[in-house]
Amino acid sequence: MSTNIPALHLPRHADSLLSAEWLFLHDHLPPDDWFNPDYAYKTSTWLAMHSRIQQRQGRLQQTSNAYQDNRLDWANYKSQTLRQLSSHIDHLHGHHSIEDGQYFPRFVRNYPRLTAGFAILDNDHHTLNAALHDLQQSGRALYRATLEDQRLADTLHQQLGQVGTLLSRHLSDEEDLVIPILGLN
Ligand SMILES: [Fe+2]
Ligand SMILES: [Fe+2]
Repeated sequence: MSTNIPALHLPRHADSLLSAEWLFLHDHLPPDDWFNPDYAYKTSTWLAMHSRIQQRQGRLQQTSNAYQDNRLDWANYKSQTLRQLSSHIDHLHGHHSIEDGQYFPRFVRNYPRLTAGFAILDNDHHTLNAALHDLQQSGRALYRATLEDQRLADTLHQQLGQVGTLLSRHLSDEEDLVIPILGLN
């Protein structure tokens, strides 16, 4: 006699805030199949958006690392950071507002079992938006700085690291909930 034991799916991120019971759609579309041609036409836009966010975050952290390691002078650090920062922050605010205003409410309506999971993602957006606000304030101070300011660069470095940590966990958790919904509908 065969017994059907449901598979236990775990969130992909080590620090995930998701409960395994919210990953029931991974029975039908596990992460290994997200880029399968049968699904990629529905899943890849969202995943590509997230990968561009990670790239912009990575470039900012590389610029900051280079300055901290004395591989980049102040003038170049300042101009590169200012150019990269405003685009990164603008994209993220736009991204969060579309998710909060359009996508997440629709997903919760269609999958009420995921309500608590989407509440975590919504809360992440608030935390991220506060961290982005602090980052933007430091960006403004950087714009106004006429002399090299190591303390400001240290603050920016720390704030960027904080946003990077938040983003990495949030994007992974969001994909764990959202990508199977997109792929299976
Ligand atoms: Fe998000
Ligand atoms: Fe997102």
